[in-house]
Amino acid sequence: MGSFLKVEPSYISKEGCRLVWQGIDEDDSDVVVLNKEELDSLAEILEKNSTGKVELEDEFSTILVNTDLVQFRLKDSKYLEAKTSVLTKAILDYKKVPHIPKPIKIYPKEFLPSIQIETEEQTTQANAVLKSKSVKGIPQSDLFRVMTTRRSTRNFDSSKMVEQWQIDKILAAADTAPTAGNFQGFEVFYIKNKEVKKRLVEAANKQPFVNAPVVLVFCMNPSRVKISFPPEILAKFSLQDATLAAAYSQLAASALGLSSIWIGMLDEQKVQQILGINLRPSSILCIGYPQKSKPPKSRRNLKDLVRVID
Ligand SMILES: Cc1cc2nc3c(=O)[nH]c(=O)nc-3n(C[C@H](O)[C@H](O)[C@H](O)COP(=O)(O)O)c2cc1C
Repeated sequence: MGSFLKVEPSYISKEGCRLVWQGIDEDDSDVVVLNKEELDSLAEILEKNSTGKVELEDEFSTILVNTDLVQFRLKDSKYLEAKTSVLTKAILDYKKVPHIPKPIKIYPKEFLPSIQIETEEQTTQANAVLKSKSVKGIPQSDLFRVMTTRRSTRNFDSSKMVEQWQIDKILAAADTAPTAGNFQGFEVFYIKNKEVKKRLVEAANKQPFVNAPVVLVFCMNPSRVKISFPPEILAKFSLQDATLAAAYSQLAASALGLSSIWIGMLDEQKVQQILGINLRPSSILCIGYPQKSKPPKSRRNLKDLVRVID
């Protein structure tokens, strides 16, 4: 895919335009022609520094305006993209609309909610949460140290409170995991309600430790994955998204000196009923301080695990 180059008049659509991408070779360019309505709709979204979708008249192609990137999903699985800031300037200059670029908070490829203008106080972004507040009393956590010392626990010390800043970091870590197409096809339910926690024990094959100090239910949300692939692929993507997110949270919990247990043995329908949701749960992550710190469990030898294909 080449890089987005310019907006120019279209000979086939008088009040529309041509968007031109330059390929690696000079004569290798891609063009998307927009009619007047399509151009106006796109310009309206860009002018407001908003996010949204423009369906093209061929009834197949779609432009998805995200805060960071504008994605062009075209016929015959063709895909083009342009940086939102670059396209905004090009389109608004072309339409002679005055505009001043604003600092915006980036929610990558999340085109449904509208964006927020960045201010000093807002700290809900994962990066801000992860960078905030040094880890009290815990040596700065090197990833490999965390990986090699992590050990699950099923016996939590409920006398020791997990602090909110720790929970924030664990949740923010989930948000840093890679996801299919960066569509974040998962949701996390942070269960604070004591009754709900007890009911989740029942839904998890009566495993008592599910009633833990911190309980997070990771669910798949394939409807967020806006890629035109068959539903079973989207389901697989969202399962992987939710699983990776939970794994990132589990590592973050260890990095904070906490321990956890991953619960995969659950009755999906019971969990859905208890939480009043239609999304399929993939795992429950139960977190807290362990009653006893234990060394990590042993694993296979790497030579038995890895099969090298020469
Ligand atoms: C996919 C998956 C499902 C699991 N389900 C359960 C479960 O339902 N109940 C449980 O007690 N532990 C469960 N575990 C935890 C594992 O038993 C535990 O991670 C494993 O014994 C390795 O121990 P470690 O995490 O200390 O290295 C699950 C772990 C994974 C990855």
